[in-house]
Amino acid sequence: MNTDARHVVLGVTGSIGAYKAADLVRRLRDHGCTVTCLLTKEAEHFITPLTLQTLSEQRVYTDLFTLEDPHVIHTRMADRADLLIIAPATANVIGKLAHGLADDMLTCVALATKAKVLLAPAMNVHMYQHAAVQDNLRRLRQLRYHVVGPNLGSLACGYEALGHIADVDEIIRAALPLLGMSAPKSASPASKPRPGASASRSGAQKRRR
Ligand SMILES: Cc1cc2nc3c(=O)[nH]c(=O)nc-3n(C[C@H](O)[C@H](O)[C@H](O)COP(=O)(O)O)c2cc1C
Repeated sequence: MNTDARHVVLGVTGSIGAYKAADLVRRLRDHGCTVTCLLTKEAEHFITPLTLQTLSEQRVYTDLFTLEDPHVIHTRMADRADLLIIAPATANVIGKLAHGLADDMLTCVALATKAKVLLAPAMNVHMYQHAAVQDNLRRLRQLRYHVVGPNLGSLACGYEALGHIADVDEIIRAALPLLGMSAPKSASPASKPRPGASASRSGAQKRRR
């Protein structure tokens, strides 16, 4: 790990929760981190590369195959990272990582990096509770990925339920110790299992409209 400015690679995927990536960039920079953002193709439907590039003051990468840079960017990025955060992390990217798939810039960096990886899942409650997604998250925890959230909250699909991306504060509190930086005392462990199946049983899953 670098001893000077910590380099965080922030992967953003195709979820409504992508709007939080902008604030996350600012907050990480407030902590002295350099932040490079990688967007999946689908993430670009939810947040613009320009927004993240402006806030990070770093080039944003969206395409694995580019002629604009003669270097192999994904391996360079993987080597440079002190921490990879994927926030929001879709069911799709969680599934790909759990199975070692690498078909875009973000998943290539995730497989190539020796840095710790922190995932902030965000999705519809039924997607989150699906056995396949739960299996994939269990597998990723076994592979030493760290997971923060999701939380109970208002989902874009109209449910008040589990699946809302963790708060930016919570993601920061999970990220700082992984960067070797001290987190506020109230920090909760990033990798604490959060069983999804309890939401419907506890009556927490309600339609808003
Ligand atoms: C409006 C909208 C919101 C979506 N929100 C989510 C989400 O929060 N979580 C999720 O897993 N998928 C969500 N999806 C589906 C993903 O965008 C889709 O699975 C996509 O292929 C993910 O690609 P990526 O993982 O490469 O970014 C949403 C799709 C739409 C149209």
